[in-house]
Amino acid sequence: MINDLWYKNAVIYCLSVGTFMDANGDGIGDFQGLMRRLDYLHGLGVTAIWLMPFQPSPYRDDGYDISDYYGVNTRHGTLGDFVEFTHGAKQRGIRVIMDLVVNHTSDQHPWFQEARRDPNSKYRDWYVWSDKKPSHAKKGMVFPGVQKSTWSYDKEARAWYFHRFYDFQPDLNTSNPHVQAEILKIMGFWIQQGVVGFRMEAVPFVISTKGPQVKKPVEQYDMLRSLREFLQWRAGDSIILAEANVLPETDMEYFGEDGDRMHMMFNFQVNQNLFYALAASDCRPLVQALKATKPRPATAQWGLFLRNHDELDLGRLTEEQRQRVFECFGPEKEMQLYERGIRRRLAPMLNGDRRRIELAYSLMFSLPGTPVVRYGDEIGMGDDLKLPERNCARTPMQWSTEPHAGFTKSAKPILPVISEGPYGYQHVNAAEQRRDPNSLLNWTERIIRMRKEVPGGRLGRL
Ligand code: BGC
Ligand code: CA
Repeated sequence: MINDLWYKNAVIYCLSVGTFMDANGDGIGDFQGLMRRLDYLHGLGVTAIWLMPFQPSPYRDDGYDISDYYGVNTRHGTLGDFVEFTHGAKQRGIRVIMDLVVNHTSDQHPWFQEARRDPNSKYRDWYVWSDKKPSHAKKGMVFPGVQKSTWSYDKEARAWYFHRFYDFQPDLNTSNPHVQAEILKIMGFWIQQGVVGFRMEAVPFVISTKGPQVKKPVEQYDMLRSLREFLQWRAGDSIILAEANVLPETDMEYFGEDGDRMHMMFNFQVNQNLFYALAASDCRPLVQALKATKPRPATAQWGLFLRNHDELDLGRLTEEQRQRVFECFGPEKEMQLYERGIRRRLAPMLNGDRRRIELAYSLMFSLPGTPVVRYGDEIGMGDDLKLPERNCARTPMQWSTEPHAGFTKSAKPILPVISEGPYGYQHVNAAEQRRDPNSLLNWTERIIRMRKEVPGGRLGRL
């Protein structure tokens, strides 16, 4: 029975449509391009794709500022292209999950536009307002150093609104039952288009109490159960993978004692301590993190990762441990971000040293949980620290030695392709690594196969 739980036996590959493959030559990756690369992903052995946001958005936070939940951004294609893509993936036995970004909308979303314009609008209460500037407006920022506050004044509304993230991302009032119903509707909509689950962003914030009086937010864990229940009714095999960087004491609140809340969570504890182990040659805290995150219901599963699209967040380490990781993997100020993390890609952090990269991956593929690989890491892509904040590690996929790494025929890709230094596409690209049996790409393919063949790994019970 437990073998039916596909997510325990999955290898997830995360990618952003916009930087993966551009089919129509306008410089922006699209679903038609991604479709052409499905056989590459199938060959690599991945069994699930996690898509970063692709809906209409002003793209001020790489699409994590959505202005319409029920559409595909025209720059990536049409809803028709999307369904062709999910179908193509399904034909190859690859499942698709997508980001569910419902902590906030874009300030350009019609809901927010109407809410700010008309105090009597039904959408007013979909957001979180205050007449006066709350005393804790300068607290709780997620992007310290860049974001100045969590409350901003809106002239049109003549009120202050709450935003846990950037000021153009007003928080949804998630305790409002209409907002909750809309979240279910969004999930139901995409399930009908062929996805089998969601990577739910910022879960602790989504379920927190929000408001001018709320000095210490309290998580409403029960909300997680209703999301799960709804999803399971609509499609029995669909899952939620929660982004929740929380302490091990609260893990069970997210999974649910009876396994009736989140199916999966990213293991941020293991991630941070794994980098500490690599930096300090000391695996004791990693062992502790593994022990602390062990208890969980039989149907629950950890998502394991090395690097993702955000900074490597070291906020849960002790000051001393964090400094150790900084010294080793991100010694320069420009490599660090938000006073807590490192914004580089994996390969440059490990000095491009093949043996260390293999060690890091071997660990990830053998620890209990489902591995989540970031696009480009299978070929050892680098970063471009000239780009702001997290964009440095979001550059286009390097396919070949053709101009712009074969990502686009346009002269101006959406983000510059890395073309200088040891990580330039002339040296690091998928086409050349395919031809070389000893390349990192072929090594990754082999370790993925090995992982699938080891049943202990499948069940996350190693
Ligand atoms: C994403 C970030 C994003 C943030 C705000 C997180 O889930 O990982 O990239 O900036 O949400 O939407
Ligand atoms: Ca395009």
